Formats: sequence, structure tokens, C-alpha cells
Amino acid sequence: MRIAVLASGGGSNLGALLTHFARPEAAASGAITCVGSDKADSGALERARAHGVHSVHIGDPRDGVAMRGRLRDLGVDLIVLAGYLRLVPTEVVMAWPGRVLNIHPALLPAFGGAGMYGLRVHSAVIASGVLVSGATVHFVDEHFDRGAIAAQWPVPVYAHDTAKELAARVLKVEHRLLPLVVEAVASGTLSLGTDGRVHGHIGMLSEAQQQASTRFSISREGGAQSQLHAADPAEVSLPDDAAFARDIALLYPR
Ligand code: GRF
Repeated sequence: MRIAVLASGGGSNLGALLTHFARPEAAASGAITCVGSDKADSGALERARAHGVHSVHIGDPRDGVAMRGRLRDLGVDLIVLAGYLRLVPTEVVMAWPGRVLNIHPALLPAFGGAGMYGLRVHSAVIASGVLVSGATVHFVDEHFDRGAIAAQWPVPVYAHDTAKELAARVLKVEHRLLPLVVEAVASGTLSLGTDGRVHGHIGMLSEAQQQASTRFSISREGGAQSQLHAADPAEVSLPDDAAFARDIALLYPR
């Protein structure tokens, strides 16, 4: 599949996607063929150019007909919003049903919607007093941060967290979760059904392997949670990449 990434900011999630799809196993299902941004000077466009990926400045992000035309001309099959701050026009959402994904740095449906981006999200999470935040990848509809949830991963909120500290902890998880979900959708193992529900699974394990495994991701994060009252909960312990992928597969057998 030809994948377009839309981003407004620094593009670290774009970086994670580029790294992931450079691997032969992932490259078999898709390639990042273009990057679009509403900001002409965004780090994302710079990153795209540095990787030799076609980059496009979206002059008028509200012009859905123009955006749809441009993406069609580029032969795009799948659109990934990675820190894209504009609403995706209806024309684009309708033209790629089940083929537009977004990453949000909290556990939706809480802490999302218009104006909820960047540090605002994490400040709201901290102000609310919740103990768990996380990352959400979802299929996009014509509203901000709405649409069927494809995957979520929990991240603890510590008592003395600043919004910046929490953002950094969640971002690490975003960089792992997003590429896995994009690959699952690109390879067809995960999809949005016409019933509006998400079907399939994330990760490379067969059903038999999943059943045979005794690992379970929540207990890992449960371990992280138990640090909430520790004296110095400096860092969340995350599983290594292979274990993370395996845990995702276990967490999302649909
Ligand atoms: C990420 O937290 C993403 O979830 C949010 O904006 C941030 C973008 O970071 N929507 P980057 O541009 O990928 O570094």
C-alpha cells in the first residue's frame, strides 16, 4: 500500500513510521510514499525531504476537493495523521473509508476533540487526577479524535508529573504503537468493517501462537502502575520492541 503521512509538527511519529517501513517485513505491506503538512516549515516536511520522500505543503487544509485530488494523483491507499492538527475534510474521509488513521496522546474518548492537542492534552489529563493515560490509534471520521478505536496502550500518570514529562512518556509509546497499527491495516490483518467495528488483529502472531503464549501485557503495565507510590518513579519500564509487538497481538485478538 502507498501510505501518506500528514503532520503539522516535529514529525517524530513520522520518523518512527519511516524507520519501521524501512524494514523488509513491514515494507512488504506498505511504503511511506508522501508526507503532507499544513505548515510549510514543519519538522515533518524537513524529515520527509531528508529521507527522499515526496513532500507536499497543503496550502488550504479546508479544501477537501483539492486534497482528495492531490492524494489520488499520488496513488495513496492509506492516510496516517501523525500530529496533524487540522480537521480532515469530509471529501477525503469519504474517499478513503477505513483508510484514514490518527494517533492521539491520551486514552480516547476522554481528553480529545477540537483544541485538544499537544501539551493541552497532558495538562488536562493531569488536572483531572486520572492515574492512567496512554496512546490511542483510531480510524478517522469527520470529527476531531472520533471514530473506531484501533488500538490503545496505557501509560501511568505519576503524582508529580508535569505535562512535558507525561508527554514524553506517552510519545515513546506512540512511536511503537502507531507503526504496528499502520502495518496491520496496510497488510489487511486489521480493518474497519462496514458495521463500523474494528476487525482482525495487530501483530504477526498466528491465533495458535497467541493462545499458546502466557504473556499478557496488562500485567506488565500493572507492574509499572505499582511504581506509582514508589519514591522515585523516574521512568516507565516498557517491554522491548519484540515483546511489545507480541503483547499488542495478545491484547487485540478480535
Ligand atoms: C504526538 O503526541 C501526537 O499524538 C499528537 O501530536 C504529537 C506529535 O508529535 N497528535 P510528533 O510531531 O510526531 O513529534
